[in-house]
Amino acid sequence: MRVPNVNGDIMKEFIIKNLSLRYSDDNESLRNISLEIESKAITVLFGPAGGGKSTFLRVLNRLNDLADVKEMKGEVIFQGQNILDPKTDVIELRRKIGMVFSRPVPLPLSIYDNVAYGLVMAGEKNKQKLDHAVEQALRQSFLWDEVNDRLKDSAYSLSGGQQQRVCLARVLALEPEVVMLDEPTSALDPIATSNIEEMLGELKQQYTIIIAPHNVQQAVRVADYAAFFLMGELIEFGPGKEIFHTPRDKRTSDYITGRYG
Ligand SMILES: Nc1ncnc2c1ncn2[C@@H]1O[C@H](COP(=O)(O)OP(=O)(O)O)[C@@H](O)[C@H]1O
Ligand SMILES: [Mg+2]
Repeated sequence: MRVPNVNGDIMKEFIIKNLSLRYSDDNESLRNISLEIESKAITVLFGPAGGGKSTFLRVLNRLNDLADVKEMKGEVIFQGQNILDPKTDVIELRRKIGMVFSRPVPLPLSIYDNVAYGLVMAGEKNKQKLDHAVEQALRQSFLWDEVNDRLKDSAYSLSGGQQQRVCLARVLALEPEVVMLDEPTSALDPIATSNIEEMLGELKQQYTIIIAPHNVQQAVRVADYAAFFLMGELIEFGPGKEIFHTPRDKRTSDYITGRYG
């Protein structure tokens, strides 16, 4: 179930209410964050290092369960459920909300096996289904044309940009609803970066995308919506055009114009 907003037309994928998180007593890493994330659009989280972007992403698919979280408060409503509820099936949640990390880390397996990995782990044995899923995920990652004649080669034989797309294909093969990317191009050259950015524009037709880009320029290029995080606070949130061209908060404009960060 997707939750419509008050206008009834824009669909919300996540409704986050008063989310606070601390790893230790002396430092609150997320401070009372409230935010609605639109379905099938690109939402960008930007701001200086240490602002809480990665922490926020990890909350959305409960990856923080693996970290040293001391206290978490608030609600994260996804598909009508508060996913912070201890009863949430996190395996199922992480299948619906895929994550791509900053450094591409393919498994020491063939290209094919990398992409099929999650499905095989989930018990899929039908070769035809796997072949189909692998091809589809590689096509969506704009990689099929480059690798279809060498699917049995090691994923390590690929360039950094191709490896990052293999990691994305591995997520897409599970047919998620949301794809989160944490600085996905920080290790890539400009051409590989622009390939990934172009791909995001296509993917948003089918998936909700949440990305923490590795610089403001990238944030400006891809954002439908943008959220400025500073020291655990959400300073400003809105359509990318407004945030980047007419920010309301001085701290946002100072950051965008390069005064700090
Ligand atoms: N696993 C962790 N354990 C303790 N503190 C952490 C952990 N991850 C992040 N932090 C702290 O939380 C704050 C936000 O970090 P992070 O979410 O990584 O910000 P960003 O992604 O915006 O750079 C920082 O002060 C950071 O030191
Ligand atoms: Mg980060």
